[in-house]
Amino acid sequence: DALSQDELKRIAAHRAVEQVESGMVLGLGTGSTAAHALDRIGDLLRGGALRDVVGIPTSEWAAARAAAAGIPLTNLNVHPVVDLSIDGADEVDPFLNLVKGRGGSLLREKMVEGASRRFVVIVDDSKLNLFDGTPGFNLKLRTASINAKASAFTEKESEIEPFVTDNKNYIVDLFFENGIIGDLNSISDEILRITGVVEHGMFLGLATSVIVARKDGVVMMDN
Ligand code: A5P
Repeated sequence: DALSQDELKRIAAHRAVEQVESGMVLGLGTGSTAAHALDRIGDLLRGGALRDVVGIPTSEWAAARAAAAGIPLTNLNVHPVVDLSIDGADEVDPFLNLVKGRGGSLLREKMVEGASRRFVVIVDDSKLNLFDGTPGFNLKLRTASINAKASAFTEKESEIEPFVTDNKNYIVDLFFENGIIGDLNSISDEILRITGVVEHGMFLGLATSVIVARKDGVVMMDN
């Protein structure tokens, strides 16, 4: 019987939570995969297998979900160094570069995950669509921007209501017709130089490992 995508997400999440130890400061991810990790951490705290864990949520959604799971919350002012972050991703490439932000919380995610000693990404195999031999980074990028002009970048979503993030920024999609050809870091720099752009959804060199749950088993990708 084929496992559903949601079961695969849960398998990846539970595997990541095995790395959580008592006393840790955790970065708490956002999305349907991270949800399984938050619930699992809550279960382990309730059962007594984990103690003295605190978490920094990457979104209002994560804060609510973590609170419901019984995870004590903190923030980057109190804990500027995070031991371990666990979060999902929209796309993962073979070098552990990510695209994130479909859930809209890429700015806080990048702040928390960038402050983490270890950042473990949890995905089901549908997120590995970059292994199909297409040249470049087949990117569907979401950028947060306070500049409405940035919507000029969007091809598909310019006519619908703008997506407003927890931090009251707009999210716009940036589509590259034939995938990105070129150096991701240069493209990142170029986007960040645009006035009004707060952040983008490429997470380059941040993930320390990726746990991929596939129907035939779990694959670990390490940096
Ligand atoms: C949230 O802003 C995103 O970066 C999520 O981490 C990403 O969209 C993955 O979400 P799912 O686990 O729901 O696919």
